[in-house]
Amino acid sequence: MDLKQLETQLSVLHEDTIKAIVAAGSLDALRHLESGVLGKTGTLGALLGTIKEYPPAERGKVGQTLNRAKTEMTKAFKEAEARIKAGAAAAESSKAATYDPSLPGRRLPLGTFHPVTIVQMQVEEVFRRLGFLVETGPEMETEHYNFEALNIPKLHPARDMQDTFWMTNGMLLRTHTSPVQVRAMERHGPPLRVIAPGRCFRYETIDASHENTFFQVEGLMIDRHISIANLIAMMKLLLREVFGRDLKVRLRPGYFPFVEPGFELDMSCLICDGDGCATCKRSGWIEVLPCGMVHPNVLRSGNIDPDEYTGFAFGLGLTRLAMMKFGVADIRGLNGGDLRSLVPASRLTGPTVSAKG
Ligand code: DAH
Repeated sequence: MDLKQLETQLSVLHEDTIKAIVAAGSLDALRHLESGVLGKTGTLGALLGTIKEYPPAERGKVGQTLNRAKTEMTKAFKEAEARIKAGAAAAESSKAATYDPSLPGRRLPLGTFHPVTIVQMQVEEVFRRLGFLVETGPEMETEHYNFEALNIPKLHPARDMQDTFWMTNGMLLRTHTSPVQVRAMERHGPPLRVIAPGRCFRYETIDASHENTFFQVEGLMIDRHISIANLIAMMKLLLREVFGRDLKVRLRPGYFPFVEPGFELDMSCLICDGDGCATCKRSGWIEVLPCGMVHPNVLRSGNIDPDEYTGFAFGLGLTRLAMMKFGVADIRGLNGGDLRSLVPASRLTGPTVSAKG
């Protein structure tokens, strides 16, 4: 075969190979084709082996021609391989992107307020409507506000009722929200309506019904002619709002140094409606609210003249109230940080709670 014939054969081979490459639908097919052309025994490979059969003067030219053909075809195979790989990748990713937009989305679990926060918001809402200010006061208190100003002098036995965390700086962690009473009297003067929700601390061993950290709401109303009747009316309203129905209440005498007279307010048992059950220890009543008429000494601590003004105060145990409302049997569930203890609260009150703070 002379050079001319070789060139013709090569151009036919080139054309045929390009057509076959275009038709190859897969990498396997392409590789098969490639070895049939460029492999040692392939069409072009075999021709390359014939160089030495040409007269020496022609070998250079023949070699160039064959090598050019080899380079071109190698390039065509490389391009085809890249094209097939890109096509496969695109097909793969379009498969991943196919989804059914009409399917419902995945629900994310919604967060919820802590049971104590829910009850606190309800209580604040009720009292705001009645014109009460919401004050907070510091959690680290002075002995003066936590005890002395509340008519509990040093060495008074009532100090033993509230085991206290003392700080090395001489201050303490407030054992109740009552210190905010005197702070509010000093700040606003009479007449005065204020509630003070907040965290309190006692040096207690923790068990199912005791915590060293718990929440109270203090309430205080001072004006001319405030009486026990006002106190009872407010407490009935509060319980009706929190529990969503009218509850019977009763007052028993109770001793707290900062009120005189002092009371324990009981409400009819939610479980048995007053008939007597295990929850209320067969009495039909549940103790919810210590309260009383503000002691003249406490009014004086707050620079208010007890001959001109009277008032009532109460200390609502928010943590206990939340436990009763949501049926939480163990107080440790509330502070333990276990999110599962929040679930009952969201189920019971989710839609009715307003987020106004
Ligand atoms: N501070 C009291 C306590 O934590 C509760 C209390 C009782 C508050 C009577 C009051 C009250 O305002 O009048 O034990």
